[in-house]
Amino acid sequence: MDKNIPYKIYLSEDELPKQWYNVRADMKIKPAPLLNPATGKPVTLDEMSGIFCRELAKQELDNDTPYIDIPAEILDFYKMYRPAPLVRAYFLEKALGTPAKIYYKFEGNNTSGSHKLNSAIAQAYYAKQQGLKGVTTETGAGQWGTALSMACSYFGLDCKVYMVKVSYEQKPFRREVMRTYGADVTPSPSDTTEVGRKILAEFPGTTGSLGCAISEAVETAVNTEGYRYVLGSVLSQVLLHQSVIGLETMAACDKYDIKPDIIIGCAGGGSNLGGLISPFMGRKLRGEADYRFIAVEPSSCPSLTRGKYAYDFCDTGKVCPLQKMYTLGSGFIPSANHAGGLRYHGMSSVLSELYDEGLMEARSVEQTSVFEAATQFARIEGTLPAPESSHAIRAAIDEALKCKETGEEKTILFGLTGTGYFDMVAYQKYNDGVMIDYIPTDDELAKSFAKLPKI
Ligand SMILES: Cc1ncc(COP(=O)(O)O)c(C=O)c1O
Repeated sequence: MDKNIPYKIYLSEDELPKQWYNVRADMKIKPAPLLNPATGKPVTLDEMSGIFCRELAKQELDNDTPYIDIPAEILDFYKMYRPAPLVRAYFLEKALGTPAKIYYKFEGNNTSGSHKLNSAIAQAYYAKQQGLKGVTTETGAGQWGTALSMACSYFGLDCKVYMVKVSYEQKPFRREVMRTYGADVTPSPSDTTEVGRKILAEFPGTTGSLGCAISEAVETAVNTEGYRYVLGSVLSQVLLHQSVIGLETMAACDKYDIKPDIIIGCAGGGSNLGGLISPFMGRKLRGEADYRFIAVEPSSCPSLTRGKYAYDFCDTGKVCPLQKMYTLGSGFIPSANHAGGLRYHGMSSVLSELYDEGLMEARSVEQTSVFEAATQFARIEGTLPAPESSHAIRAAIDEALKCKETGEEKTILFGLTGTGYFDMVAYQKYNDGVMIDYIPTDDELAKSFAKLPKI
């Protein structure tokens, strides 16, 4: 071990970032505006405020303010589980025999088991400030739903969660954690909403998707007095809240003079990756430093690597605004693979724009190779990683092995977004050798692209 760099770098509470960083302020080309599907025009603050809390709608539309104060109540809550450690993966480096230096930012140290709490507490806070009674949301793998349940119980808000059916069935204990925090959990698609009934009629026996669950949650929020809808990823406001990950990471790196060459994150809707890279991307955009950024997605749901950059609905039921993003089409229902949190058809508009401009790379990886990396990591570094996070581990190991071949001493940093304790059905499949890789065919994707809205 390098005696100058500890295994875990912990910042003190005083070093917690006091402001979030909004990378859009430094982007020369801003993400395209959200459009109202009824008018085809950019959505206004008033239109958005019917679905989202007003303050969050303002953050969504704000492309210009670089730093936004984190309210004191949110900072207090952050102290329950932040600052999160930046870990030097000494054991992994040694096991791989690589000259590369590997670091990971660990976000799994809270009951939700992931980074999702960073935005959940912010969104619940603004809902409370507005005097709302409750919020609705979707959850894929269950981490976001758990995080929001925790945040809502902290502020005394009702929380209705539509959980993608495959996860609801595969992860009964995740569901029970949410109920323990007082949330009401419904498997999606369900017959409790019009859009759910429609999806069930069209695709009987469907295992659901985040896109379906979003539609159900939005419908319920809009039809329930004193409720608004909140979303755990994709939106620019969520990336803003998640910038706390990148800001802490940057502070820890600067303190120890660590200069990452490559920064890697898994990409579902883009929130952890966007949060981790934002401040570093800011430096790159301002010409102060250069980094390689790599988004890692599942081959079964490859929105960046095989999607189209186009306006599309954020949800299957087409009730949300249109967003310009890399998308597989809002009707695309990914195979029921196990990284539930990465089964989303689209990508954050901020990351989509950065990717389109060549400022960020993307790659897709297959399920079994992800679990191979997850198992290797668990055995060497001790932490049992979430399947989603393990996509980033896969890419980090691959990059470290490239360094072994070339002899380069690159510094690789990746986001370890969460733990996998509730994903044991997936681990069991891997351990039993019955996990299969699923890659959609070009034909399947072409059929989905044909249904993209014509803008
Ligand atoms: C542990 C974990 N990592 C990553 C993700 C992917 O989401 P995002 O791309 O918004 O960070 C999820 C989503 O559920 C998750 O639970």
